[in-house]
Amino acid sequence: MRAFNAILTVIILQICQNSLCANPIQGLFDPKCFVAQSECPNENVTFWLYTNATANTPVQLNPLSLQKSDFPVRRPVKILIHGYTGHRDFAPNTFIRPVLLQHEDVYVISPDYGPLVREPCYTSAVQNLPLAARCLAQLINNLVDQGIVQNEDLHVIGFSLGAQVAGQTANYVTRKLQRITGLDPAKPLFITAGNERKLSKDDADFVDVIHTDVLGRGMMHPMGHVDFYPNFGYIQPGCEVEAEPGSCNHERAPRFYAESINPKQEFWSSRCTNWLYFVLNICGVQSNDARMGYHIDESLTGIYFLKTSNSTPFALGRMKDKLPEQQPNWRANYNLDMLNEEACDQLLMCRFLRYGAEYGMDVDVPPDFS
Ligand SMILES: *[C@@H]1O[C@H](CO)[C@@H](O)[C@H](O)[C@H]1NC(C)=O
Ligand SMILES: *[C@@H]1O[C@H](CO)[C@@H](O)[C@H](O)[C@H]1NC(C)=O
Repeated sequence: MRAFNAILTVIILQICQNSLCANPIQGLFDPKCFVAQSECPNENVTFWLYTNATANTPVQLNPLSLQKSDFPVRRPVKILIHGYTGHRDFAPNTFIRPVLLQHEDVYVISPDYGPLVREPCYTSAVQNLPLAARCLAQLINNLVDQGIVQNEDLHVIGFSLGAQVAGQTANYVTRKLQRITGLDPAKPLFITAGNERKLSKDDADFVDVIHTDVLGRGMMHPMGHVDFYPNFGYIQPGCEVEAEPGSCNHERAPRFYAESINPKQEFWSSRCTNWLYFVLNICGVQSNDARMGYHIDESLTGIYFLKTSNSTPFALGRMKDKLPEQQPNWRANYNLDMLNEEACDQLLMCRFLRYGAEYGMDVDVPPDFS
């Protein structure tokens, strides 16, 4: 048993090294780190409007002086929120914005709160999120109140910390948001956070979430009406060889989402009622139950699993006859009777998922569906 724990610790340390492993203490006493003043509009939270015609010359929006002429015709409005260390030309913007503008007549608004989330200030970044959320809500409220944008045309898409900003924005908007997409919502300092601090299905009429780095930077718990776990949500094919597998896994979420905007790229997935059942191979991945991504069916609920390829195009289309039949070794020989505690102890991944949190790492336990 002790040897087993030692192995587990080594694995966890390795994961920490490879991913950001956001050390909340880091940066705590760094004079660069600050918790921003709370007024909106705020010089450190700006908003940039892109259309196909202004893809390289965005218009900065002043939340207190919005112009109808910037939104001359009615179109969907996509709001793309970056995360830690980001800015308006950072994931998910870099992946998703060009594809959106290319494929559809939309307005894209990229908030930029980069000064509030600079490295190495993760803790103060998290403390600054409510300000970013409040300023974004001010923009949204003013746009809708002044009849410049219709509330039902809004779709908020956030990556990592940006997904938590999306969730917090719901605390301040005067009308419920119609749709939020969370792309690998950030985990450090959010596992035990209440729903007012993290993305949840209360935050919009429809919340869809893609989890791609559940053992590193992203949340494992389901958070939306529907949650997708490509490649089990933890090791993304093609990321094994990267210098920073953690960041590679994490960024797969916006990459998959960007690809899904093209209707020809179909990410079909299978439903499973329980994460652990899936890990233990009780649910197959052969059925074409739901399509992940931009063209999702907004009546979906539940958790879904799928495979992807290791490079673009990532989508494997419909799953029939396409899936490689080989299973990861640790899944090969387990089935229903492995669900008891003792059996779980023998299965590294099961134990890891269940008890990882005990080891002081930000691994949350698998969701318990009953
Ligand atoms: C904006 O950020 C800078 C650091 O980049 C900080 O010095 C300043 O106080 C911030 N302004 C507000 C209004 O919070
Ligand atoms: C946007 O502009 C590009 C290049 O000018 C063009 O190929 C594309 O069709 C346009 N997209 C839309 C939705 O108008």
